[in-house]
Amino acid sequence: MKPQQVTWPLEDHTRAKHEILRRYLQAWFPILAQGGFPRMVLVDGFAGPGVYDDGSDGSPLIALKAFLDQPKPIPAECHFHFIEKDMARADRLRECIAALFAVRPQPRNLHVHVHAGEGFEQVYADALRNHPRNAPVFALVDPFGWNGIPMAAMRDLMDRASGEVLVNFMFEEINRFLAHPDQGANFDALFGCGEWRRLTMLPPTQRKAGIRDLYAKQLLSVAGARYVRHFEMRNGRERTDYYLFFATKNQRGLKKMKEAMWSVDQRGGMTFSDATDPSQQVLFDGQDTSQLEGILSRRFAGSVTNVDEVERFVVEETPFRETHYKGILKGMEARVPAAIQVEACREGRRKGTYPTGTRVRFT
Ligand SMILES: C[S@@+](CC[C@H](N)C(=O)[O-])C[C@H]1O[C@@H](n2cnc3c(N)ncnc32)[C@H](O)[C@@H]1O
Repeated sequence: MKPQQVTWPLEDHTRAKHEILRRYLQAWFPILAQGGFPRMVLVDGFAGPGVYDDGSDGSPLIALKAFLDQPKPIPAECHFHFIEKDMARADRLRECIAALFAVRPQPRNLHVHVHAGEGFEQVYADALRNHPRNAPVFALVDPFGWNGIPMAAMRDLMDRASGEVLVNFMFEEINRFLAHPDQGANFDALFGCGEWRRLTMLPPTQRKAGIRDLYAKQLLSVAGARYVRHFEMRNGRERTDYYLFFATKNQRGLKKMKEAMWSVDQRGGMTFSDATDPSQQVLFDGQDTSQLEGILSRRFAGSVTNVDEVERFVVEETPFRETHYKGILKGMEARVPAAIQVEACREGRRKGTYPTGTRVRFT
């Protein structure tokens, strides 16, 4: 339900999303600073009022604080574009930003632009036009529904040297309205194609996977992402509320986003999950990496593989992280009979370690 008032209560699923945003941006700024970019651009396309009923920060304040809290100041010129269609919410956002800068002075290289009264779709292109194409862009796209976030906009945001988008894909509502006769043009724009129409005929589970996979496919093929991962947020009744889609061209960005996902505290009834094999959901609940052995065994059974390829596979094609797989390999090597054997490695390698270049046979 869309709230009508200027601010609204903070729900658990929003809290988890905010935690991911905070952790990702805390990593994003220093990575790009190390990369020596003279300018960085952040777009919060559906910014909201900056605050919730209980005083918790909204996404714009989270982004600003992630910048201000950097232990080492970021030297680049940073431009934050906050787009909020509702004038009253935009006014509240301006007040929140002013209150923040009253206690934490605004650095001279931090430029804040609040775009009020117009929608994301109308504003983002103008906001980007003033920045050179090689300036990295991170965009948060967090609407209440599915209108006004066309795939064409994702393409424009990604069409940069380093463009990344984090989209809150409101699955539950999209699924509910997919066959609605008035929504055809809106869904054409959302997906950037008309293929979604065939999904309306499918039974529920296939339809769910179909909607999710079509959106991922379009982010790759139309928006031009190199990596796309989705993270499923389920509510306490085990129903999917939304998917957070992260699209990037950069493997390091993907690693950092997964790190953020794995570190979110999942208490409070919401669960975050991801799946490589749709029948095997992986919950980001701290340390449970038990499914990874099965995934590796199925993928590499009978082959001799360089561990660098194992790492690439884990990072790019599974929900797991680059920090997870070596412990799994160690367990597989130590078992009797061993599930992997090291075929070639650097001289002096210690058992249970897998330096780059190590070749492993999966039995
Ligand atoms: C889900 S809320 C955003 C919450 C915010 N990102 C946060 O995490 O704190 C969506 C916001 O988008 C605004 N909005 C609705 N349609 C819009 C549009 N087309 N363009 C920009 N903002 C819009 C709404 O007024 C609302 O404040």
